[in-house]
Amino acid sequence: MSTYPILFHPDKRLRTVAEPITDFDDDLRQTAENMFETMHQAKGIGLAATQVNIHRRLIVMEVPQTDGNTSNERQDENLPREKLVLINPEILEKSAETSEYEEGCLSLPNQFAKVVRPAAVKVRFYDLDGKEHERDATGLLATCIQHEIDHLNGILFIDHLSRLKRERIEQRLAKYLKNQEKSANE
Ligand code: NI
Repeated sequence: MSTYPILFHPDKRLRTVAEPITDFDDDLRQTAENMFETMHQAKGIGLAATQVNIHRRLIVMEVPQTDGNTSNERQDENLPREKLVLINPEILEKSAETSEYEEGCLSLPNQFAKVVRPAAVKVRFYDLDGKEHERDATGLLATCIQHEIDHLNGILFIDHLSRLKRERIEQRLAKYLKNQEKSANE
C-alpha cells in the first residue's frame, strides 16, 4: 500500500470531470486501497479520486456513525465507522427537506463552512466487484455522498457558499498552505 499526494484548491485539476469506470480489476482495487490509506493519513472521512489526480469515478468513505453536526464532533476516533467504496455513483432521488452540516475537505485543509444540501438521497453505485447497489442515506452519510460526488464533477463545497464566504475561505487557505510550506522547509 502507498499514499497519493492530495491536490489543494485552487489547483485546476480539481475541476476535472471524472470518467466512468469500466474495468473492475486489481488495478482498481489497489487504487481504492491506496485512497483509503491516503484518507486515513490525512484524517479524512471521504476522498474522491479526483483529489488525488485520478480522474475516474471512484470514492472511498469512512463516515462516523454520529449525528454530530460539526467537524469537531466527528473527530472522535472511537466512533463506529462504516467503510464504503462507491464506483460510478449516481444520485437517483433527493429530498426536498434540507440539512446543514459544517463541511471540511482534504483539498481545503483546515477550512470549514456550513453547507445546506438535501437531507436525504437515494444513491446507486457499484462496488469493487462490479456489483450494483442502491442505498438510502440520511444525515452525515447523505452529506458526505453529495460532497464526494461533487468532486467527481469538479465541484468543491465552497462553490455552494456566497461569494464573500468563499473568498474569505480562499484567503485563509492560501495563508495556511503558505505557512505549512514554510514550516516544512525549516
Ligand atoms: Ni472534499
